[in-house]
Amino acid sequence: MKAYSAAVVLLLSLEFCSCFLFSAASLYNSTDDVVILDYSNFTSTIYGTENAWVVEFYSSWCGHCIEFAPTWKLFAKDVKDWEHTVKVGVIDCAADENIPICRSYEVMAYPTIILFAAHTSKGDTGTEMRQSLIIEDMGKFVIDFLVEKQKANNGSSSWVNLQPYQHAISDIWTEVPKSVEHSVVIVASAKSSAAWGTILDLGGYSSVAVRFKEAKAEDTKEFGSLPSVVFIDRTGKEEVVNGAPNNRKELTEFVMKKLGLNRGMLPYKTHLSGRKSDATTRKEDIEGAGDGQPEEINSDKLNYEDDLPDTAFAGVERKDQVYMVDIENAISYALGHEVVQHKVIRGEALVSLQDFLEVLVTYLPARPAVHLFLSKLYKYSSTHGDSLEGKHLAEVIKSLQGPDSVLPDHQPWVGCHGSEPKFRGYPCGLWITFHVLTVNSVLQDGNSDVYNPKKTLRAIHGYVKHFFGCKHCSEHFQAMYAVDAESSVNVADDGILWLWRGHNKVNERLKGDASEDPKHLKQQFPSKSTCPSCWNGNTMKEKEVLVYLKQIYAKGALSFKGTQTITTPVRNKQAKVKEALDRHEKVKKVETMTVNKKHSDFIQDQSLRSLNTWGFNTTDISLCVFLYGISTVIIMGVYCMVVIRRKIRRRRFLEACKLPNTTEKRVNQGSSHECISSIDNHSKEEK
Ligand SMILES: Cc1cc2nc3c(=O)[nH]c(=O)nc-3n(C[C@H](O)[C@H](O)[C@H](O)COP(=O)(O)OP(=O)(O)OC[C@H]3O[C@@H](n4cnc5c(N)ncnc54)[C@H](O)[C@@H]3O)c2cc1C
Ligand SMILES: *[C@@H]1O[C@H](CO)[C@@H](O)[C@H](O)[C@H]1NC(C)=O
Ligand SMILES: *[C@@H]1O[C@H](CO)[C@@H](O)[C@H](O)[C@H]1NC(C)=O
Repeated sequence: MKAYSAAVVLLLSLEFCSCFLFSAASLYNSTDDVVILDYSNFTSTIYGTENAWVVEFYSSWCGHCIEFAPTWKLFAKDVKDWEHTVKVGVIDCAADENIPICRSYEVMAYPTIILFAAHTSKGDTGTEMRQSLIIEDMGKFVIDFLVEKQKANNGSSSWVNLQPYQHAISDIWTEVPKSVEHSVVIVASAKSSAAWGTILDLGGYSSVAVRFKEAKAEDTKEFGSLPSVVFIDRTGKEEVVNGAPNNRKELTEFVMKKLGLNRGMLPYKTHLSGRKSDATTRKEDIEGAGDGQPEEINSDKLNYEDDLPDTAFAGVERKDQVYMVDIENAISYALGHEVVQHKVIRGEALVSLQDFLEVLVTYLPARPAVHLFLSKLYKYSSTHGDSLEGKHLAEVIKSLQGPDSVLPDHQPWVGCHGSEPKFRGYPCGLWITFHVLTVNSVLQDGNSDVYNPKKTLRAIHGYVKHFFGCKHCSEHFQAMYAVDAESSVNVADDGILWLWRGHNKVNERLKGDASEDPKHLKQQFPSKSTCPSCWNGNTMKEKEVLVYLKQIYAKGALSFKGTQTITTPVRNKQAKVKEALDRHEKVKKVETMTVNKKHSDFIQDQSLRSLNTWGFNTTDISLCVFLYGISTVIIMGVYCMVVIRRKIRRRRFLEACKLPNTTEKRVNQGSSHECISSIDNHSKEEK
């Protein structure tokens, strides 16, 4: 019994680990020369240090960040030896926990690079640096920043001296520390980044002091061809080398060779500061949020009110199947992450948010609880003055949630699942959401006299312009919109087609890009194989495409596979919806759980298929299925005994443990927490 209980706990935790690890994919790891920062250590690492910092704020799903990451790694490697003066960091703003940090630096577009001088403290928002694919350019930018800051007395004692040396070369020993054995003066033209780079490169060797001297007219006479390097030892002996290399790398190598330096002499430095920060964020009072039920908007057309389509649950999936879970994930991330990341939302941005929410409430096919949540948030956003604070809105979003008002938690992507965590996901879900919006606005209201064909597209544009964090995506989309969106969208269907065409232009541009998932190549949509009738030779037939888009993105065509179960009863008129959902859940569970020899092949095949769309490799799947099977049997066995022995009154055990509640009359549902802890208690008792 003891062994069984332990096994159950172990298997359960294994199962949770293998099936629910879908955290954001960091684009960097410990093998890179960057300091990885997050909410728990950003301030403790960055604040108050002697060295300056150059930090990339990125988002792991953003295509340009994926593309830029290798460059940033190279840059970090290139300036690794500068850490006495400046260190390179990264923080992933796609991770929910990091929102407050990214918000406080008003980072809303990725990637953003920010430079901080020494002794940074709260309130210092740093200096933004333009990203470049040429690491030398970024190095120059950093050097200019350091030179300026040091000149303005914002450097620190650990920095190398980048300021031009003004005195006679023979006086150099009055300015350098005792540990120095060799002084080096590089005489070069003003603003020589080769000289500055070399000074930074050699700043870690305590036996050497390198300075830069701006060449004056008379120096040219004295030294001949520049840069010249003057080596002075403690005895005062000077050696002048004219015509030294004029680029950083060669100049550094030249000096190192001359002085017999090698990188092994550099002191080992650790990035970690060891200080702990308090990660707790202050809770704020929410005024007026969540009080009472707002009137329902558009209640006569409440999405999926009581007409959940059978297709929602059908095991059969069409080609290009669209999944509700991808839409819900995208909406959750858009509202709960991107929007609330803004420090303050006002003016055009606030109007854009209101418009986008209005379109979501009106046209997004949504489950009743999700729809109610969106309605509440829309109402809140349009009745609370001319500015909203992101931080406050995050709390509002929390407070607006209730049993029948839900912004679903992130679930594993289904249609938008990438072959690696950094691929697909959010931007894919957002596209899907946009297509679903354009299609369903036309299906619902396209025939109405008052329908404005531009409305949905404008709302999408407003969201992308003000909130979509992928900077380049947003800029491209705005540019594309500016060309012809307003002028070419005149009748209802135009909106659907404009977005389809625009999306295809993006697909075309991104072919072969670093953000392209090798398992989901960028192609013109729909493909010839999924919609043969859409193609006429090598051209697409818009009329057929329109029909096709209206089919796949229609409310009735969406699959609910993988969506979060919303358990609590909704209002009476929606009981039917819930019933349907529940029935479906039960059927699905019994199907996958039943251990039936005869059908095991079939069942395994089924569950493999459903797991496979989550993108596991075969080993993962076998492990998952195997663990699932074993733990199911064990849990059932153990639980029967537990129930008999202890007459547990707690209900709802098995559902949370993902077990059938139809086959076992005696057991009921409960939270997974209760499930684990009761087993836990039990095993302790046994001991
Ligand atoms: C508004 C916007 C602009 C973007 N701009 C850029 C950019 O400039 N640079 C960049 O690197 N990334 C950009 N992205 C991200 C990029 O387009 C992809 O979303 C991302 O690379 C993930 O690609 P994916 O393979 O999941 O398919 P996605 O392109 O995200 O498409 C998702 C799904 O939509 C369907 N689909 C594909 N094409 C069409 C179509 N023409 N009409 C209807 N349905 C279609 C397919 O089922 C596809 O699987 C943008 C994203 C958005 C939302
Ligand atoms: C770090 O990431 C690189 C790819 O960027 C990968 O090859 C390597 O295995 C990773 N290392 C660790 C320790 O995760
Ligand atoms: C910050 O915390 C993350 C996650 O715990 C860790 O990976 C990273 O190394 C830490 N960075 C520093 C500088 O402590």
